[in-house]
Amino acid sequence: MTDIDTLQKDLANLPPDHPDRREAAVPAMLSLQSETGYLDDAAIEKIAEVTGLSSTEIEELATFYSLIYRCPTGRHIVQICDSVCCSMRGADQLLTAAENYLGAPLGGLASECAPTVLPSICLGLCDKAPAALVDGEAAGPLNRTLLETLLKRLQT
Ligand code: FES
Repeated sequence: MTDIDTLQKDLANLPPDHPDRREAAVPAMLSLQSETGYLDDAAIEKIAEVTGLSSTEIEELATFYSLIYRCPTGRHIVQICDSVCCSMRGADQLLTAAENYLGAPLGGLASECAPTVLPSICLGLCDKAPAALVDGEAAGPLNRTLLETLLKRLQT
């Protein structure tokens, strides 16, 4: 994991437009996120300060990468792919089913022990469509019954 202070020292003498500054942003975000579970506005500002990029550039990167969270998440994270293969095999209905089952919108938290369900771009699991990552572990093909069983298990 990237240490923010070490990263700041490594980048200190680089020119403002050096590509290493941008490349350092994602590891820096993941490092801060590992401490807090998500990146609040203060974390975005901190990464902008460390990398020398603008907070707008950091925000753009944070919203592009599906593994960077801008809101508090549950102890467990379920990412359901909604790209073409998975969408054609019912991913959209699964996302709606997850919202209904948990009683919270995607990315929201129904309770402290509820998992966070997020839509995701292709997870590279197209052969398991509709597919998901559950705390980073591949799952699929999913159906509504399997999904609800999985969500129930994650709440215990
Ligand atoms: Fe869903 Fe690739 S389209 S995993």
